[in-house]
Formats: sequence, structure tokens, C-alpha cells
Amino acid sequence: MSGSSRGGLRLGVNIDHVATIRNARGGTHPEPLRAAKAALDAGADGITAHLREDRRHISDSDIEDLSRLCASLGKPLNFEMAVTDEMTEIALRHRPHAACLVPERREERTTEGGLDAARGHTVISPVVKRLREAGVRVSLFIAPDPVQIAVAEAMGAQVVELHTGAFCDAIKAGETDHAARLLADLQEGARLAAGRGLEVHAGHGIDFDSVGAVAAIPEVAELNIGHFLIGEAIFVGLDAVIGKMRSLMDLARPS
Ligand code: PXP
Repeated sequence: MSGSSRGGLRLGVNIDHVATIRNARGGTHPEPLRAAKAALDAGADGITAHLREDRRHISDSDIEDLSRLCASLGKPLNFEMAVTDEMTEIALRHRPHAACLVPERREERTTEGGLDAARGHTVISPVVKRLREAGVRVSLFIAPDPVQIAVAEAMGAQVVELHTGAFCDAIKAGETDHAARLLADLQEGARLAAGRGLEVHAGHGIDFDSVGAVAAIPEVAELNIGHFLIGEAIFVGLDAVIGKMRSLMDLARPS
């Protein structure tokens, strides 16, 4: 994503769970496309959407609509995808600004861990190559693990997105010492990745209580946040929740 946010830190808004609510009734409301427009109007730098293999939230036609919207506004679409032939073909058809390769298991509630790039090397590597050749910026969603970071670089990914889920869960549980150790891992991972020339993103589970610490990691260029923003928007509206998240990010990363 390109952006001119303060402190060089961009906010990608993940709108998957607008589709979750829509799909609960099988109709068209609330529309992810409308949420994407509202998020961009409210100060998001880009839109993220995960087309899962089971289509539990975002649909193929959502991706078509979001691709068209982002292209028309010159805003980046970050397409989250499992490393499968089907998803690779869809990504190559739409050529989003970026594709973030994520692990996916049907029985999981959300993307629970990072991609095991080291173990999946032979499957992931050709997908990274095909996407890059099509002009798509490739990101790997990984734990802040030195081996995964080295493999991501060796595969030719331009970006790593560090999984912040465990850190955010520790904050929510009030486990201060554990959270501090997990934050140190994220800080070290960001430093290592940036040192290898990778752009560093971070995401998963971020809310108002955890955003400051992640945003303060100087190498992090982009946060991708979804569930909390969409949930909190029920109470205060998308505009207000995105505005507050942006200001907490800016506070942590003054220009
Ligand atoms: N980044 C990645 C790669 C993800 O898979 C997700 C969840 O879809 C997020 C960020 C956003 O996580 P959350 O919805 O918990 O904010």
C-alpha cells in the first residue's frame, strides 16, 4: 500500500466481518463495498479482504466490486488468500495491489497462526513467483520467527505481515509479563525483517488497547485491522472508530 499517513504508518481496514453479518441473512445488507468506501472516507489507507476457500464471509463478487472500487479511487486492495491453485488464479485475474498469503484451515474460527513458510516452501515459492511476475506485491503472514523471516526473503516475498494475535490475546487477558515477551518477539522480528530488506506489516486481534505498542515498532509500515473495528462500529460508527484508531496510531508514531 502506498500512503502518506503520519509517521509513515498506514492503516488497512479488513472488512471481512461486514460480509459475515450480511451472510447471516443471506441478503445484500450490510454491503462490504459500502463499508470499504466509508472506511476510505474515514481515513483508511487501503482495504483488506480475505476470500476464504469456504466463502464464509467475503464472496467472489465482493472481490470483483472491491477491486473495481480500489482501482477507481487509486487505493490499494490487499487480497488475503490461502496458497491454493484456485486462489492464485483469482489473484492473477484481479491483480490486486498486494496479496497476503495466509494459512487456512476450514475448522478454524479465524487465521489462528502464521504461515509455515519453511515447511511449505515448495508449494509457496512458485505462488510467490507467479504473483510477483504479475506485478502483485507479495506478503507472507508469519510469526515473528527468524527462520520464517529468512525463508520469506529467500522466496522473494517483498513484505512480511507479523501475526500479532498472541500478543493481543495476552493484553486482553491482562498477562502483562507474557505480553511483554511477545512484544519483544514482534520488535525483534520487525528489526530482522527490515534488516533483510522486507517491508513489515502487522495484524490480527489489534484493538484500542494493543494498537499503541504495535504501532510504536519503528519498522512497521502498515497495520491491518478488522474484527475490532467492525464490531466497535456497531456502537460508534465506522467513521468514529477508524478516526480513533488512526489517532492512537499517530500518537504512537509521531511524525
Ligand atoms: N491480517 C491478516 C493476515 C489476517 O488474516 C487478519 C484476519 O483476517 C487480519 C490481519 C485482521 O485481523 P483482525 O480481524 O483480528 O483485526
